[in-house]
Amino acid sequence: MIAPLDTLYRLIKPIMFRIDAERAHDLVGVGLAACPPAWLRRLMGTGSAVDPLLSIDVAGIRFAHPFGIAAGFDKQARLLHACAALGVSHVEIGTVTPRAQPGNPRPRMFRIPRDGAVINRLGFNSVGAAAVAGVLHRARRRGVGALLRIGVNIGKNRDTPLERAHDDYLIAFDALASDADYVAVNISSPNTPGLRQLHERAALRALLDGLVARRQAMARRVPLFLKVSPDERDAQLQQVVEVALDSGIDGLIATNTTLARDGLSAPVSHTGGLSGRPLLARARRTIAMLAVMTEGRLPIIGVGGVDDAESAYGHIRAGAHLVQCYTGLIYQGPGLPARLAHGVAVRLRADGFTALREAIGVDRHRWC
Ligand SMILES: Cc1cc2nc3c(=O)[nH]c(=O)nc-3n(C[C@H](O)[C@H](O)[C@H](O)COP(=O)(O)O)c2cc1C
Repeated sequence: MIAPLDTLYRLIKPIMFRIDAERAHDLVGVGLAACPPAWLRRLMGTGSAVDPLLSIDVAGIRFAHPFGIAAGFDKQARLLHACAALGVSHVEIGTVTPRAQPGNPRPRMFRIPRDGAVINRLGFNSVGAAAVAGVLHRARRRGVGALLRIGVNIGKNRDTPLERAHDDYLIAFDALASDADYVAVNISSPNTPGLRQLHERAALRALLDGLVARRQAMARRVPLFLKVSPDERDAQLQQVVEVALDSGIDGLIATNTTLARDGLSAPVSHTGGLSGRPLLARARRTIAMLAVMTEGRLPIIGVGGVDDAESAYGHIRAGAHLVQCYTGLIYQGPGLPARLAHGVAVRLRADGFTALREAIGVDRHRWC
């Protein structure tokens, strides 16, 4: 199951890994955006029927299979046709901030190949909500949504005081929600000072109530997901779950990058959020804790450290309804989503499940 694009990626990867990680990411983006989707599909070998065992409805949305691309990969919605051609069921664009902002000074993204990890401190570099809304709207009109579910991840500008963070989320929501299949409320990036304080009960309550009220004014009920940090104490997670359930949002995303440095084979001095393989266990535990705390009342998108079918299947068995990856794509190449779909379907059958839904959360108590 090696697609031609995977072979190509394996050939260029050693060269890409010699240049700055963000620059390499930008170059891949330019290449993907320039390549006609039909060519990409041929190069990827995608377009063949997806195993019906993998299809799932989450928050009222039908996903052909659970595997998608996490926030940060396509911050500006410029790679939607490419993402569809890669065969993912969904992509979460963003994080998008209301106003354009440059993010932190470069270099701000670092690979740690021996651990299959990345540290980033991009700090929400964004072209702003109005610009992304225009791109997204045009892509929708060209029909990209037929193949791909699109989540829009929103955040606050760095210079907006935390007390006024709610206004930023509302501005971004108003600009983007009408073209989103779901909206992800990002309170968990470690690179925007103070952002994670929005996990606190009162602040979170006000934030989610405001967004829920706003979507009630819309013609369509856009599902709202809350993206949480892997670094919260259990008591804090419990509060998040209570507020999430009370507010009437539709699901949780676990997790963002971690400030912890466990799982690395040697110390690394870069500051920022750690993703990839060293995050796997921490993300897995958070998914399982949330699955137990919500008692299945809120779907969970599991993200963190997935780089093969075994790790994806583990997240599903811990409680994830959908699974996203980003760092795994950097190390394993564009064929990863197709390999996840194949490998998880094989594992589901081997374990005697007749639908993906039956496997979700069966191991949740094992990880808590
Ligand atoms: C370079 C980079 C940029 C990211 N940017 C964002 C972002 O803008 N918003 C967000 O919610 N998560 C962002 N993330 C976090 C990912 O969406 C994901 O939660 C995290 O990387 C764990 O998944 P992974 O181990 O598969 O990479 C970013 C991750 C990386 C590596």
